[in-house]
Amino acid sequence: MKIAVLKETMKNETRVAATPDTVKKYVAMGADVAVEAGAGDHSFISDQLFEDAGAKIVKTAAATCKNADIVLKVQRPDAGELGLMGRGSKLVSILSPYSDQDSLNKYAQAGVDAFAMDFMPRITRAQSMDVLSSQSNLAGYKAVIDAAAHYGRAMPMMMTAAGTIAPAKVLVMGAGVAGLQAIATARRLGAVVSATDVRYAAKEQVESLGASFVVVDEEAMKEAETSGGYAKEMSDDFKKRQAEFIANHIAKMDIVITTALIPGRPAPELITDGMVRAMKPGSVIVDLAVEAGGNVAPSKVGETVMVDGVAVIGNTNVAGRLAADASSLYAKNLLNFLTPFVKEGALAIDWEDEVITGTALTRDGQIVHLNFAPKNDAPEVEIVE
Ligand code: NAI
Repeated sequence: MKIAVLKETMKNETRVAATPDTVKKYVAMGADVAVEAGAGDHSFISDQLFEDAGAKIVKTAAATCKNADIVLKVQRPDAGELGLMGRGSKLVSILSPYSDQDSLNKYAQAGVDAFAMDFMPRITRAQSMDVLSSQSNLAGYKAVIDAAAHYGRAMPMMMTAAGTIAPAKVLVMGAGVAGLQAIATARRLGAVVSATDVRYAAKEQVESLGASFVVVDEEAMKEAETSGGYAKEMSDDFKKRQAEFIANHIAKMDIVITTALIPGRPAPELITDGMVRAMKPGSVIVDLAVEAGGNVAPSKVGETVMVDGVAVIGNTNVAGRLAADASSLYAKNLLNFLTPFVKEGALAIDWEDEVITGTALTRDGQIVHLNFAPKNDAPEVEIVE
């Protein structure tokens, strides 16, 4: 069994899909691991460290992929990379299939069995394989650090001989994995934190972190969570009332972190241009959803824009800004996913297993995922559990 680890080609991608630690484990399972030279550079993992762990360092992507049974990646492969993968090989990566559904046809045509790690079912057994959680957690932390770096004031209350500094007021919108970590981080820095979500289940988690939770409509919020733990799109009436609350609340905030996402749909716009302009100059907004369309009207992908003195930060690949930790957790997610399917040094996929049916997009040249397979005309697009 040969496992290939490619150097990521996408601009701004700092992560790598294996670490010396996971390479050692694959080798112990009987795998040959080929790592493309320089794959770990941005995560501070040298070729030497990979080699010491038992990997073979290979100069080109083509040679790395040659005869590979499994190709590990972070971002979905481009046409060139896909062309290097042999028929029957398994691609394990974040594949964002909703954002480019034609990519599924390409995997099928190439005969590559593609597994979307971002589709991991949210079941207890799969928590250690959940790349969205491992990466969102880091992104939530880094969003607060980025905001603090831009903020021209201190975060905690300080009582000094020269006077008292008030604590920063932070609003976190979307209290999922990233949002909860943002709340925890802002609290550790001494801020006064409030949070919103459409899912009522988030209330207890928010309050347990010492933040206050804003309830827009208790009944609607109790209905807002899918069986997979994700949010549904809300009614226009709910959106209107949520917007009214935000408009009143946001002008008093110093820092706002937005993390709201709805799988398979564009991110909901929660903050309008007018709301940004109502904030005090020197305030900071971090839009973690910017790559999914954005929660903040004026946010721009990969840029920090100034709107009447308010910084609106739209950093991309925020987890990748903590490349070493992000790679380490991501690589471990992949290892945890593959380990149960390696028997006596060979790949033995159980195609009935829930983590496989949840993530497998293509098999033997066909699109097999329930959300995308031909004849699937179900109107509701939702991660299948
Ligand atoms: P996500 O990244 O899809 O969305 C982020 C947050 O935005 C969610 O909390 C969502 O409810 C919220 N949101 C969506 N629309 C909104 C709106 N209009 N206004 C305000 N907030 C809005 O979600 P994430 O972070 O991946 O996880 C969601 C839930 O799944 C969490 O409760 C988490 O604890 C749970 N989870 C369960 C796992 C498991 O059981 N294995 C693993 C990971 C997460």
